[in-house]
Amino acid sequence: MDIYVDSANLKEIEAAKELGLADGVTTNPTLIAKEGGSMREILGKIAKTVSGPVHAEVLNLEYAAILKEGRELAKIADNIVVKIPMLRDGLRAAKAFYEEGIPTNITLIFSPAQAILAAKAGATYVCPFLGRLDDIGHDGLLLLSQIRSILDANPDLETKIIAASIRTPGHMIELSQMGIDILTAPSKVLQQMEKHPLTDQGIAAFIEDAKKFSA
Ligand code: G3P
Repeated sequence: MDIYVDSANLKEIEAAKELGLADGVTTNPTLIAKEGGSMREILGKIAKTVSGPVHAEVLNLEYAAILKEGRELAKIADNIVVKIPMLRDGLRAAKAFYEEGIPTNITLIFSPAQAILAAKAGATYVCPFLGRLDDIGHDGLLLLSQIRSILDANPDLETKIIAASIRTPGHMIELSQMGIDILTAPSKVLQQMEKHPLTDQGIAAFIEDAKKFSA
């Protein structure tokens, strides 16, 4: 299982890397906008910071423009993965990139049917959004388990699952149990995973007791 940082912030990515939690990085236009500055520059720095895949999303939505932009993004660094929204032109572009040997991520997947199309188009990764489904009263984890079953039942589909829109440590646990290939989590969730009140209480008690004897 790989864990990626869902962030375009270098400090967050470096902090996760120190704990072995930056097997890769996913970005999107919203995350890039939070950092400000040039997208190309931000991606270049991230791609130097981590050795694993760095997912860079195209801003264009029409076939020829996606191809042009994706090829440009792929030139930024060897570890760039071209991230493309789930739409028909995006699927066509993923197929063309597959033939060119450029890795792709089809993102904004909200149904198993969309995941099947992305896998058949040759996407290297499919990226279902868990939390946003929960937000509208659907079951995000069910979607992840359905996609896991489909890919397990059809080993000819070589795409990997990246679970995104992860909101809680509980999501991380459930997704790990399902054998999801990659979990991309915001830095906040990675930090929350460290915490347990009994750990804090235990440390405080040990510190107190340690005052009662000499080393
Ligand atoms: O990579 C994008 C995805 O993780 C978005 O998460 O929390 O905005 O739904 P969220």
